[in-house]
Amino acid sequence: MPIRGNITLPGDKSISHRALMCGALANGKSVIKNISTGQDVESTRTCLSECGIYSKKENNIVEIVGNTFRNPENKLDCGNSGTTIRLLSGLLAGKKISSTFTGDHSLSSRPMGRIIEPLEKMGLQIISQNGKLPLSITSTNALHGIRYNPPKASAQVKSCVLFAGLGANAPVVIEEPIQTRDHSEIMLKELGVDIACGKDIILNPQSNPLMPFNMCVPGDPSSAAFFSAASAMIPDSDLTINNVLANPTRIGFYDVLTKMGEKVGDVRVQYSLLNGVSIGKKDIPRIIDELPILAILATQADSPTTVEGAEELRVKESDRIHAICTNLKAMSAKVIEKKDGFIIDTPNILHNTNIKTYHDHRIAMAFTVAGLNAGRYNSLDNEDCINISFPEFNSVLKSILK
Ligand code: S3P
Repeated sequence: MPIRGNITLPGDKSISHRALMCGALANGKSVIKNISTGQDVESTRTCLSECGIYSKKENNIVEIVGNTFRNPENKLDCGNSGTTIRLLSGLLAGKKISSTFTGDHSLSSRPMGRIIEPLEKMGLQIISQNGKLPLSITSTNALHGIRYNPPKASAQVKSCVLFAGLGANAPVVIEEPIQTRDHSEIMLKELGVDIACGKDIILNPQSNPLMPFNMCVPGDPSSAAFFSAASAMIPDSDLTINNVLANPTRIGFYDVLTKMGEKVGDVRVQYSLLNGVSIGKKDIPRIIDELPILAILATQADSPTTVEGAEELRVKESDRIHAICTNLKAMSAKVIEKKDGFIIDTPNILHNTNIKTYHDHRIAMAFTVAGLNAGRYNSLDNEDCINISFPEFNSVLKSILK
């Protein structure tokens, strides 16, 4: 069945997390419209509320009243959300809030050494289980400034240090050899923080709270990628997605598919013959969350696709390299698993099968789309994990299958 229609999607997940965090730092009431409806962003809102920040949500609009932090009485449960733990740890430390972070099974197995290292250098005392959750952070004094070059390109680590730096006694400087998503920098600058974004990112400590704001979160390009891919590979499809975030640090996937001009735009994707592509280390941050669906698209190209330098995929919500390769093989695709990526040979005729989601929302959505290419829905061992980022995924998909 072709994919056809004109849709608008809920707000971007990365921006929604940061909007809540900036709202918590702002002096007074901020209003965030079209906030992401996923459970991850709710985890951030719940943790903030544990720390004394009032917010209410109605019809995907959040009102949040900031600058009322207190030490939490309970542990902060970040659920499945890496962005919640990694950004909030820095933000709370900068506000001299001491806290203990926990998470679900997947989050508890993900590496936190990447935030522990810079936060300890800034003067914090941190207790962890071998660099994993639970993580207890004691913050009583102003933090030191730091010059930091994260060993892995990571917007979460960069943002952790920037949010912590708001409460430091000297500037923080971040070196970023490969640029990652810059939503924290854009938002902090917009709200009056002294931050310069050149070759290095330099943030000066902020003695005043941020300014409250009203914003409308643009549609999530990572969610849009699933439908865009379906439209590109199912004959006779023609889909328009309105108002999608088109920040250049986020649209690597659309560069592969089509060329875009504006920063927030409408995406129109029609069925087309696809070529294979080569994706290397420097491309990865701009397409990191879209690699599962890109792998599905690549099976339908007329030449092989290679993804290299993507070892970070192994420490996402699941080991995504393994999840992609295992499930593609189960669907009869020609795929070779590599330590840092995969190679997909062509041509392929996909067959429907049972999918192991590894409880990972993006694996579940990518292999739902793969199923459609094979003719019908695949059977997933966990449908509910889709709610982590995109609870409306199945209903939107149903509405555009014609
Ligand atoms: C995110 C950054 C990326 C991305 C994640 C969201 C963010 O993670 O994969 O889904 O909002 O900063 P890394 O910073 O670990 O690459």
